[in-house]
Amino acid sequence: MQDATKHYINGQWVASIDGREMAVEDPSTEEKIATITLGGDADADAAVNAAKAAFPGWAETKPDARIAALERLMDIYKERAGEMAQAISTEMGAPIALAQTAQVGAGAGHLKHTIRTAKGFAFERPLGDHAPGDMILYEPVGVCALITPWNWPMNQVMLKVAPALAAGCTMVLKPAEQAPLSAMLLAEMIDAAGFPPGVFNLVNGDGAGVGAHLTSHGQVDMVSFTGSTRAGVAISKSAADTVKRVSLELGGKGANIIFADADEKSVTRGVRHCFNNTGQSCNAPTRMLVERSIYEQAVETARTVAENTEVGPADVEGRQIGPVVSEVQFNRIQYYIKQGIDERARLVAGGMGKPDGLSIGYFVRPTVFADVTPDMTIWREEVFGPVLTLTPFDTEEEAIALANDTPYGLTNYVQTADKARAQRVARQLRSGMVEMNGKFGGAGTPFGGMKQSGTGREGGVWGLEEFLEVKAVSDWG
Ligand code: NAI
Ligand code: MG
Repeated sequence: MQDATKHYINGQWVASIDGREMAVEDPSTEEKIATITLGGDADADAAVNAAKAAFPGWAETKPDARIAALERLMDIYKERAGEMAQAISTEMGAPIALAQTAQVGAGAGHLKHTIRTAKGFAFERPLGDHAPGDMILYEPVGVCALITPWNWPMNQVMLKVAPALAAGCTMVLKPAEQAPLSAMLLAEMIDAAGFPPGVFNLVNGDGAGVGAHLTSHGQVDMVSFTGSTRAGVAISKSAADTVKRVSLELGGKGANIIFADADEKSVTRGVRHCFNNTGQSCNAPTRMLVERSIYEQAVETARTVAENTEVGPADVEGRQIGPVVSEVQFNRIQYYIKQGIDERARLVAGGMGKPDGLSIGYFVRPTVFADVTPDMTIWREEVFGPVLTLTPFDTEEEAIALANDTPYGLTNYVQTADKARAQRVARQLRSGMVEMNGKFGGAGTPFGGMKQSGTGREGGVWGLEEFLEVKAVSDWG
């Protein structure tokens, strides 16, 4: 990869005007793997100016031309998938096998399905037979600031960049400062795919610097953000003065409701899902709610799964879980585990400190708490680590009430053999997504949350429409 201290602006890798250097660390080794520049206001302004200048030309291109460019990008992304996996694995600690499959694959999948969606999308369509001559035009929103986190870097970046490009928007991407290398590699691929200069720009920086500057910038029309609810609130306020469109994908505290008639693998599957990516997923099923008749058995299963979960460095081939992304996140998770113990949840597996034999790297012990109640901190707040809570319930109504007893509403999970009950429960859960009996949503399914999990939806038709304005024209022809 080229010099990581540079930003990608107007089709060139350029030196920072007013930034300062920051080391990027491998969380498995705590070693420095690259130096980037946290940009300043002048860097962000240069990128916004380039995107603004490129907008009229890109917005005017036919969808077919934009789709062709995305198809070239798809080919390059596939060719360089190995490099991408390596970048993700070292910058944020996903074990290499997970990086090669789910992490890189999520980016490829979103690109592929954005292309498919754009091909089938009517960017110009009549209002309807009842209103002859009325035309509806879907037009790009304009200059977009795309701000992304570090936990599923290509998943999150591609869910924004691909539909923004397909819509005809121009953009400034600010990836997470902890995990910028995968995004810089994507910028190289976008460059090679031959998008016009200024359509896509990347400026590295932190939230308080480039992040805050972009979200309050007078020439930015839209902000699409994924990350913490804290930052989502700050961004919404910052964007309000210039009435930007704001799309937010924030935290979660997913419930996994397991009824006594659920298939026997439900508990094991639920624990593994919670620990996947070392618990660093907004849609993780972190609160397991179990019908009382099978509760103690579920606690024992969760203990066994946690104790058998291997933890280790990201470069080892295997199904282990890796470190968490940074020392900051390690300390945050330690705080939550301590809260769980202090507030008298029953510690079933794991606990504070690092796993045996792993003194270097930000490794966390796979942890399970039982008898967790809604007043506890570990019930209410997103831990973002391999920490599962278990809570018993007696009735369907109680399970629904417990699941909804959270400020979040991203994904909830239901395990039961009773279809009628599954549908009843799904209707009453206040979340953007409900996954039943271990089945993931299909390609192009809308991803997003209710309540404090955010606004807007990513993926599929919904994700494309986020980047489009609707224009109504009468007497068209
Ligand atoms: P964060 O929300 O601070 O960072 C995510 C992105 O937002 C980064 O690119 C960061 O530079 C940027 N950012 C931060 N503050 C900003 C601001 N005021 N204006 C504009 N951009 C801003 O998240 P952080 O500190 O890395 O993680 C803290 C917690 O957030 C985690 O423990 C987890 O609970 C949650 N989180 C949720 C994610 C999700 O997938 N929904 C992803 C990452 C974190
Ligand atoms: Mg890092």
